[in-house]
Amino acid sequence: MAQIEMNLRNELIEHLDAACDYVRSKLGGIEPKIGITLGSGLGVVAEQVENPLYIPYGDIPCMNRSTVPGHAGRFVVGTFGGKPVIVMQGRLHGYEGNTSQEVAFPIWLMHKLGVDTLITSNAAGAINESYNVGDLCIMADHINFTGRNPIIGSEPNDIAPRFFSMLNCYDPALRKLAHEVADAEGVSVQEGVYLGLRGPSFETAAEIRAFRAWGADTVAMSVCEEVIAARHVGMRVLGISLVSNVACGVGDADPCNEEVFETAFCAAGGFAKVVDGVIRTMPPVPTQE
Ligand code: HPA
Repeated sequence: MAQIEMNLRNELIEHLDAACDYVRSKLGGIEPKIGITLGSGLGVVAEQVENPLYIPYGDIPCMNRSTVPGHAGRFVVGTFGGKPVIVMQGRLHGYEGNTSQEVAFPIWLMHKLGVDTLITSNAAGAINESYNVGDLCIMADHINFTGRNPIIGSEPNDIAPRFFSMLNCYDPALRKLAHEVADAEGVSVQEGVYLGLRGPSFETAAEIRAFRAWGADTVAMSVCEEVIAARHVGMRVLGISLVSNVACGVGDADPCNEEVFETAFCAAGGFAKVVDGVIRTMPPVPTQE
């Protein structure tokens, strides 16, 4: 009997319910459909959210805190691009010691709150030699090299079916729109394949050569597990990297965290313009009959 009860309890769903009840109680009736995850150096973009409400991750039941300096570790809820948004000002990384489901937790939480579109971002190193530091790179696809997947286990299967397609996991229409907005705003933009790993060591030059041979254009330590979680529950996803550095061993590059933060921080204005324009012009997610 005890065993049956254990099997019937799903802690992930219970934890998401508790977190969702808490966050909803703070929103005063705002129902954002757009979630934005701000990566390293891009947290400054949250300052452009109008009428902001702040919800620190540490106050939310069952959600982990952010431990990385420069990642504020809070939700910012308000208006951006003329629409209600919920912004993650800082994310939870695998390299901080979070499990894959802990990394995915805020994504599932935003979905539970009614978010149907995720705009995710990070600072990334350029493997592609034609990219320039400061460019944006729209994610066309990804290679999940974290060695993990948040859907593993029985609990995520109770949220949504465990087997699902990752074809076009970065929404083609939103990618096209992001190009159009970037062109109109004069922001230099690339589109390429993103490779995500767990870090926190930067890659070796040999790894970067191998990743190039696999077809990767950019590399960083986030995004893939979140996007898998978002697609698991059917969210529409746009991913944008800010090219913060040239990847290890390309030319004589030897990236470091300070360079990543500084460049991303300085180029955040172009990123904000593109996200603002995309949100202003994107159509709502079609409702399914
Ligand atoms: N490698 C890994 N993660 C990163 C990089 C990089 O070059 N740049 C920003 N995040």
